[in-house]
Amino acid sequence: MRRSIAITGATGFVGGVLLKKLASMDWHVRALVRPSSMHKRPVQAAAKWVTGDLEDMESLRRLVAGVDAVVHCAGAVRGTTPMNFERTNVEGVARLALAARSQHPKPAFFLISSLAAREPHLSDYAASKQKGEQALVLNAGQMPWVIFRPPAVYGPGDRELLPLFRWMCRGIAPVFGSSGSRVSLLYVEDMAEAIVCSLESGMGWGRSYEVHDGHAGGYSWEDIIDALARINGRSIHQIKVPVALLRLGAALNLAAARMFDRTPMLTPGKVRELTHPDWVGDNTALTRDTGWIPQVTLDEGLRQTLRQH
Ligand SMILES: NC(=O)c1ccc[n+]([C@@H]2O[C@H](COP(=O)([O-])OP(=O)(O)OC[C@H]3O[C@@H](n4cnc5c(N)ncnc54)[C@H](OP(=O)(O)O)[C@@H]3O)[C@@H](O)[C@H]2O)c1
Repeated sequence: MRRSIAITGATGFVGGVLLKKLASMDWHVRALVRPSSMHKRPVQAAAKWVTGDLEDMESLRRLVAGVDAVVHCAGAVRGTTPMNFERTNVEGVARLALAARSQHPKPAFFLISSLAAREPHLSDYAASKQKGEQALVLNAGQMPWVIFRPPAVYGPGDRELLPLFRWMCRGIAPVFGSSGSRVSLLYVEDMAEAIVCSLESGMGWGRSYEVHDGHAGGYSWEDIIDALARINGRSIHQIKVPVALLRLGAALNLAAARMFDRTPMLTPGKVRELTHPDWVGDNTALTRDTGWIPQVTLDEGLRQTLRQH
């Protein structure tokens, strides 16, 4: 029998890739879409679209009615105030969990959190992702749940890292933070595959899993620049950006964004995230419990990402 699944965030970067994957498999997919984002629905993917919002409980009940699983991918990744993040990343999680747990039988609930939840003091975003995890735990009741904590996810369609990668390909790379900083990364197709494997595997419920591309110990900024230079066939000149300058730019950017009611990427919180020395994840538990093994190396992922733009 075809299983049914509800997903949120399918008009976004990660959720869009997941939707296409699930729709091409043996899943009957129902996906949430905000009225203002109808034009962002991935057209090739077969899904039943439920018009609504994480702030609208009635639409969430329609979304999850009778499904076997819920994957909550929607999230606010930009904002100018703590409330911008909390409305979606905390209150939205609580509302969706309440809607899902009232189903009989209860669906399995998968929350896409972030490695940032490990360091909630760094930014309003990071704090909201940790509080979102807590909101799920508080509101799940007897419903089985799992939390994923991905690191920076990249791939075609990404709005955060891709512009920076493209800039670097022109031959100049800004270098932030200390030279000892390390980050894990994850290609977006591997993120979607990790979720699919988890759906199929009946994993360890009631826990969170870190997830990354399998490169133990993560990457230094120089590793990423070297990979881009290899793929692009030209050297990239590194320019060390003093953190004080970055902080000043972010503060000015935030003030301007508040004045013009925009949602900026570069904020003081983002600078603290960017300069944090340890964003290295650990895949061991996820691979042990689901059998998922990441397939896409950094070079291959960057090649795919840059090819499509
Ligand atoms: N990308 C990364 O590097 C990364 C890394 C770690 C964790 N994550 C997490 O992964 C998730 C997806 O990130 P992404 O990069 O795909 O973000 P994205 O491209 O900005 O997509 C966000 C999605 O959430 C939806 N959304 C936001 N507020 C909503 C609301 N009030 N009601 C209904 N839908 C709402 C958006 O809908 P609209 O299209 O209507 O705006 C969009 O579909 C987020 O939870 C993020 O924290 C991402």
